[in-house]
Amino acid sequence: MSFGNSEEWMVEIDKARPIVKRALELGVNFYDTANVYSNGRSEEIVGELLKDHRDEVVIATKVRLKVGEGSNDEGLSRYHIMGQVKKSLRRLRTDRIDLYQTHRWDYSVPIEETLLTLNDLVRQGSVNYIGTSSMFAWQFAKALAVSELLGIASFVSMQNHYNLCYREEEREMIPLCKDRGIALIPWSPLARGFLTGRYKRGGNVDTPRYRSDKYFAERFFRPEDFDVLESVVEIAKEKGVSASQIALAWLLHKGVSAPIIGATRVEHLEDAVSALDVKLSSDDMKRLEEPYKPHRIIGPLPIPEPLN
Ligand SMILES: NC(=O)c1ccc[n+]([C@@H]2O[C@H](COP(=O)([O-])OP(=O)(O)OC[C@H]3O[C@@H](n4cnc5c(N)ncnc54)[C@H](OP(=O)(O)O)[C@@H]3O)[C@@H](O)[C@H]2O)c1
Repeated sequence: MSFGNSEEWMVEIDKARPIVKRALELGVNFYDTANVYSNGRSEEIVGELLKDHRDEVVIATKVRLKVGEGSNDEGLSRYHIMGQVKKSLRRLRTDRIDLYQTHRWDYSVPIEETLLTLNDLVRQGSVNYIGTSSMFAWQFAKALAVSELLGIASFVSMQNHYNLCYREEEREMIPLCKDRGIALIPWSPLARGFLTGRYKRGGNVDTPRYRSDKYFAERFFRPEDFDVLESVVEIAKEKGVSASQIALAWLLHKGVSAPIIGATRVEHLEDAVSALDVKLSSDDMKRLEEPYKPHRIIGPLPIPEPLN
């Protein structure tokens, strides 16, 4: 999502190129994008920068969110998925998407239609595996059951919102994923940059991301988020590493497969890779987790009124 041009904080291909080059050098082999990011530009950048490394990397993209004004320009109908997958393949310059993810639940389409369509894509070879993103746990359990009943391709991964400041997924979704052997690949692992330690309680906030990411200010910056951040910063100081490394190491210690990081500079990426070497004791984990207070739900689309 950080590659593109729809918001001020995003980086175009000139700045994305050295990030991807360094990522490949460091052994990063999993790249996530979506048809909706910067109206397809993110997929184009990823496709261009990975075209000479196609068989060394796993490319994940997504479908569901609104890409136009027409009534069929969004959703998980057969019509929309079949049209969008062709566009994603073209922009990504590839003959197959390794992980094709549904980007939120679609309340207007039976999940059977979506899963049968995705199964067709797997059978025809344009998609290798299917995954999904933020939804309620009951919806995910239903989708897994439908695939099993129909004997068709089943979601293998959950891309959900999970970080030290947003742990609501620990209630239902994460235990469900662990029980079913589903890979956890959380988004916004640094709470959009909040957990990097660049933002101080009561301090002036003026970064491009804060100014132009419409979700950032409203999601974090609660007093209790700063309580969590302060324990992250304290432990980072004790260990002589960065706050981001502590926040990412915490996720790795919680058993996620791969946090989806959003680097906009080469140093962000190097910092993230260094988190693999950070060891946290059970006491560190307790100190990091203790200040957490429940958060309003961020991720799953709310159930539309008439269904209530
Ligand atoms: N499935 C979904 O619905 C969904 C939703 C959101 C995101 N995503 C995916 O998740 C990815 C990551 O999301 P995100 O960008 O919110 O992730 P994030 O890792 O929580 O935040 C990334 C931001 O943190 C800052 N940052 C990162 N490393 C840093 C470091 N070492 N030191 C200082 N600052 C650092 C950068 O801010 P500055 O740019 O301000 O420097 C960067 O933009 C996206 O690119 C997208 O692929 C998916």
